[in-house]
Amino acid sequence: MPNAYISGTGFYVPPRVVTNDDLVKTYGIDTTHEWIVQRTGIEERRFAEEGVGCADLALPAAEMAIEQAGIKKTDLDMIILATLSSDHCFPGSGVYLQRKLGLCEGSNAKFVPCMDVRNQCSGFLYSLGTATSMVKSGAMKNVLVVGSEVHSAALDLTTRGRTVASLFGDGAGAVVVSATEEDRGVRTWKLGADGRHADILAQKIWDISKRPFIPNDANGVGQVQPEMMWAQMQGKTVFKHAIERMAMVLMEACMAEGITGENIDLFVFHQANLRINQYLQQMLGIPDSKVVHNIQRYGNTTAATIPILLAEATRSGKLKKGMKVAMVAFGSGFTWGAAIVDW
Ligand code: UT7
Repeated sequence: MPNAYISGTGFYVPPRVVTNDDLVKTYGIDTTHEWIVQRTGIEERRFAEEGVGCADLALPAAEMAIEQAGIKKTDLDMIILATLSSDHCFPGSGVYLQRKLGLCEGSNAKFVPCMDVRNQCSGFLYSLGTATSMVKSGAMKNVLVVGSEVHSAALDLTTRGRTVASLFGDGAGAVVVSATEEDRGVRTWKLGADGRHADILAQKIWDISKRPFIPNDANGVGQVQPEMMWAQMQGKTVFKHAIERMAMVLMEACMAEGITGENIDLFVFHQANLRINQYLQQMLGIPDSKVVHNIQRYGNTTAATIPILLAEATRSGKLKKGMKVAMVAFGSGFTWGAAIVDW
């Protein structure tokens, strides 16, 4: 059975920087830089321009990962794209990414399977687990895994929506998961979910059980009420569960590997709130030198946080071959996951 390792990483964030002060000045939101930094650690985030979609952000991240993996696009056997901000309701953004990669044209045409994963902030780790299984089974040699989000289009950028709107940013991260005979790669992955909390953090937009599934006005035009249109979150409940579940799933993964936190060289936590991760660090006695963050610069990019961190850390030299890496995420659903990887 081959091992499955991360052969390449890539990321892309749109160029437009939106600071906390910009939320006040440009959007008129009643907030302050101090409030946001103190509660979340976020100083700025990136917003894509109108006309840029989820697969658009995914493309440069994917190309960077493919290049670093030292393979051609046509060497890919599968695309898995994790997002909660897909370009359309359906089809998923994976097929749009395939098309943008040029895999549907001419002599290069390679109609690989494309799968979209809808597990919000845990989407990357659900996708990594799936890709690892595909590669280890021998069914695939190279699987592209991308997390991509265009949150800015779907944030209530008014004072009404400030609790959620101040947290999220746009960006994409990608990895290639490849087969290897070397003794390295994804060792363990653990995933979980608790649907009892499905409504605690949700963006519903429609209710398919209703007729019509989006209420119509007198002219038969769909009208989405703000509480359906925008993500709703009970922040304190998410915060509490995030800490508990992230600690538990990390311990579960370590136990499966027969290691403790001390054996881990780098912790790559989902970037929802710097305070959540600092709490975890403190609870588990993890030194700052073993943790990477980027929430200060990008906010919460949901499915993209972990692959962006991996791409940045490999390029800055913080993450090197031979290191043992722990990745941990938690998000809407609730869903969560962890992976232990020998880089
Ligand atoms: O990837 C998973 C996704 N999400 C998370 O992990 C988020 C987890 N939760 C959190 O990070 C925190 O709950 C938040 C940062 C979202 C909020 O912090 P909090 O300490 O739980 O604040 P709160 O929601 O209880 O709100 C406290 C006050 C409220 O005012 P009142 O009712 O006490 O007068 C809010 O209206 O802070 C107000 N508030 C704000 N004030 C200024 C909420 N958002 C803002 C804001 N600026 N952006």
